Amino acid sequence: MEEKINLLKQDLNKTFENFTNDKKEVKSLNELDLLESKYLGKKSLIAQTLKNINEFPHEVKPFVGKTVNEVRNKIENEIKNLRDELNLIEFDRKLREEKFDLTLPGRLLPLGSKNIINKVIEEIQEIFIGLGYEIAEGPEVETDYYNFEALNHPPDHPARSLHDTFFIDDKILLRTHTSPVQIRYMEKNKPPVYIIAPGKVYRKDYDVTHTPMFTQIEGLAVDNNINFGNLKWTLETLAHSFFGKDRKVRFRPHYFPFTEPSAEVDVSCNICGGKGCRVCSGTGWLEILGAGMVDPNLYKYVNYNPDEVTGFAFGMGIERMAMLKYGIDDLRLFFENDIRFLRQF
Ligand code: DAH
Repeated sequence: MEEKINLLKQDLNKTFENFTNDKKEVKSLNELDLLESKYLGKKSLIAQTLKNINEFPHEVKPFVGKTVNEVRNKIENEIKNLRDELNLIEFDRKLREEKFDLTLPGRLLPLGSKNIINKVIEEIQEIFIGLGYEIAEGPEVETDYYNFEALNHPPDHPARSLHDTFFIDDKILLRTHTSPVQIRYMEKNKPPVYIIAPGKVYRKDYDVTHTPMFTQIEGLAVDNNINFGNLKWTLETLAHSFFGKDRKVRFRPHYFPFTEPSAEVDVSCNICGGKGCRVCSGTGWLEILGAGMVDPNLYKYVNYNPDEVTGFAFGMGIERMAMLKYGIDDLRLFFENDIRFLRQF
């Protein structure tokens, strides 16, 4: 038995010696893994001896176990130290290799463009801000009172039926125009009033020139000496700033319940220069908006004194303004979100 133990001791010494020699050759973590499995893995002398320790008589087992474990611990320790060392070297190498150049240009994200409707709203806002106007807003879900009644449409007024209204119930609806903002603003603010109010409006309508939702800008000026000449000048200024200095503007008599007198306003057609073509249906003119002097009757709804103030109002469709300016021939294009269309602006 003593001989068997001596033999084992010799083998273990030899193993450690071999390990020490092999270790010197290890240059990488991969090679270290191989070394570890060779000397500590299942088939190694150390693992096999521990596994078959029952081949030794009971009394010597503790001694055999201790002897083998001593060698195993020594090898484990050396492997651990070497692994730490190699990890450091590897980390250092990565740091050096992965050094990145902060001066290289970054990856460019594709830039979106401003939506054409917002662009036109902003352009028109800028024109009126330049004239001293403020921007006002009102709710899209509106009451019958603001959308119709306070704008001079009593309950059975025939003009109500022109609006193709989406009703939510008897009294609540989706606003059919931005004109209710006039009433809401005057209710809360004393004259003088100079506002424009952009926003979405809704009507039950759908074809080449109508969509159930579209965008309007409302304008309102109320002060103590406002006349029709002021309205004409203001809308001419708008037309010249938005469409170009060379465009002519004309006013045609019209009817709106909340203005008196009322007018529809046209600009000269830029396609044919006013001679008449397909776009302007041969008339030489393109309609851009509705306008008029605020009907004094409205003032009683907002506690203004009709003997002290006069005013004008106007309302225009933003999509229509954009179509006329950019030569777009189908209103529905604005709402389809085709990137090829949107990118052009
Ligand atoms: N609200 C009208 C519409 O949607 C447009 C309009 C016409 C507004 C005349 C006005 C105005 O303020 O004075 O058809």
